[in-house]
Amino acid sequence: MSTAISPTAYNYKVVRQFAIMTVVWGILGMGLGVFIASQLVWPELNFDLPWTTFGRLRPLHTNLVIFAFGGCALFATSYYVVQRTCQTRLISDGLAAFTFWGWQAVIVGAIITLPMGFTTTKEYAELEWPLAILLAIVWVTYGIVFFGTIVKRKTKHIYVGNWFYGAFIVVTAMLHIVNHASLPVSFFKSYSAYSGATDAMIQWWYGHNAVGFFLTTGFLGMMYYFVPKQAERPIYSYRLSIVHFWALITLYIWAGPHHLHYTALPDWAQSLGMAMSIVLLAPSWGGMINGMMTLSGAWHKLRTDPILRFLVVSLAFYGMSTFEGPMMAIKTVNSLSHYTDWTIGHVHAGALGWVAMISIGALYHMIPKLYGRAQMHSTSLINTHFWLATIGTVLYIASMWVNGITQGLMWRAINDDGTLTYSFVEALQASHPGFIVRALGGAFFASGMLFMAYNVWRTVRASNSVEAEAAAKIAVVGAH
Ligand code: HEM
Ligand code: HEM
Repeated sequence: MSTAISPTAYNYKVVRQFAIMTVVWGILGMGLGVFIASQLVWPELNFDLPWTTFGRLRPLHTNLVIFAFGGCALFATSYYVVQRTCQTRLISDGLAAFTFWGWQAVIVGAIITLPMGFTTTKEYAELEWPLAILLAIVWVTYGIVFFGTIVKRKTKHIYVGNWFYGAFIVVTAMLHIVNHASLPVSFFKSYSAYSGATDAMIQWWYGHNAVGFFLTTGFLGMMYYFVPKQAERPIYSYRLSIVHFWALITLYIWAGPHHLHYTALPDWAQSLGMAMSIVLLAPSWGGMINGMMTLSGAWHKLRTDPILRFLVVSLAFYGMSTFEGPMMAIKTVNSLSHYTDWTIGHVHAGALGWVAMISIGALYHMIPKLYGRAQMHSTSLINTHFWLATIGTVLYIASMWVNGITQGLMWRAINDDGTLTYSFVEALQASHPGFIVRALGGAFFASGMLFMAYNVWRTVRASNSVEAEAAAKIAVVGAH
């Protein structure tokens, strides 16, 4: 901790822009999630139109929630954290503004092209080559702004949160560029540079590390800043944070083959992926425990502080999904869970419980500070949001566990004569109640976002431009 006092005007404009868009894209992406969940309950909602079918809207949902909602949350918080912990302004306002507008352009491109059916068909990497190139340019610029700011920092030390954000930025660039190597044949169509099992392996090396670095490492950067801040306690163990950083980034990169169990991928690669996934439990829980234990001596704050509740419950879901993941990576377990709703439940334990909840907690902490207000307009609305999000996540996950295990068991049930006991349609019928509960859980979660939008709007409206500018010209006392 430095004790230097230096009046520094931070670039809060770009942080505010990304923060507001996180809420906007969150509502749209989760609203679309509720819509596609409803399509699985009432297929009539596909409307017999190509661009409104489940198959085209599902990738739009994943792009909106991961890259638009999650991405904006990561941009907003990383720009905020890097400036405050380095006690310096972003190196370039122009480049920072380019990352904001460029990122929004990519998202709008996704909203237009995915429902039209333009897709590479690679999951989480669906955008066709012109948009993929724009995304790569924006991402490299993001790296320049982030690392440039670290280089000109006024503190000696690089706070651990920045290590996590830094690894997330570098590895995401690497994954995106390698997985998108392709041959364009027209403006809207390209073919992957890889083929067969190699293509599948590169895709899931990308896919799993999109989870590991985009949906985990970046959000751990968020955790390392906002949990100690909101709890007003130093991080439990700085040594643990360093050990778990290196262990996490070393192990994650090997676990991709667990997405390709029982496929044409060589058996040794599948087993390696399985082993690495099991070991991954240790650094994942190292991070979870480090965050949780930061609350030592501050647990009582949970009674009155719903923002802290968001952050702590997100860590609990992080711990849960990173226990479930290694279990699902075991080949015998995966033979039951793969292709079923169990995977979907696991995804949303991480996505709603961890990614969305930590982002929401961080935004509630950050938004008043960005607009020169002491706190959010309404704490009781944050509390309402917290309960809607928690109940929504539990309904989502529990229904998908029941559905997943039901589907897995029904698909593998065999009569004495070797014929299948159940048809696929019978398993689908058995899943229908779970689909209803999932849609309900999703509606809970998404409606919480509407409360958030209202609360944010009232907080922003109560601020005036003088207060907002004053917020950026803080006398920086201490590093974090
Ligand atoms: C130690 C950590 C984790 C391990 C070992 C792990 C392992 C797994 C396994 C085995 C699958 C199923 C693969 C299949 O049968 O196709 C899976 C799917 C998935 N996991 Fe995890 N998981 C972990 C943490 C997380 C977290 C924290 C998130 C979200 C933030 C997450 C998001 C996903 C997604 C999106 C998929 C679905 C991929 C797809 O098929 O489209 N995972 N994970
Ligand atoms: C209101 C909240 C949400 C609802 C109702 C919802 C609903 C859905 C539905 C119905 C699917 C398709 C499942 C299937 O094919 O059977 C899906 C897939 C997916 N969603 Fe969500 N979702 C929500 C929020 C989120 C968030 C916040 C994230 C990420 C941060 C996310 C990430 C994903 C991913 C990665 C998949 C693909 C999973 C896979 O292929 O295995 N969702 N979602």
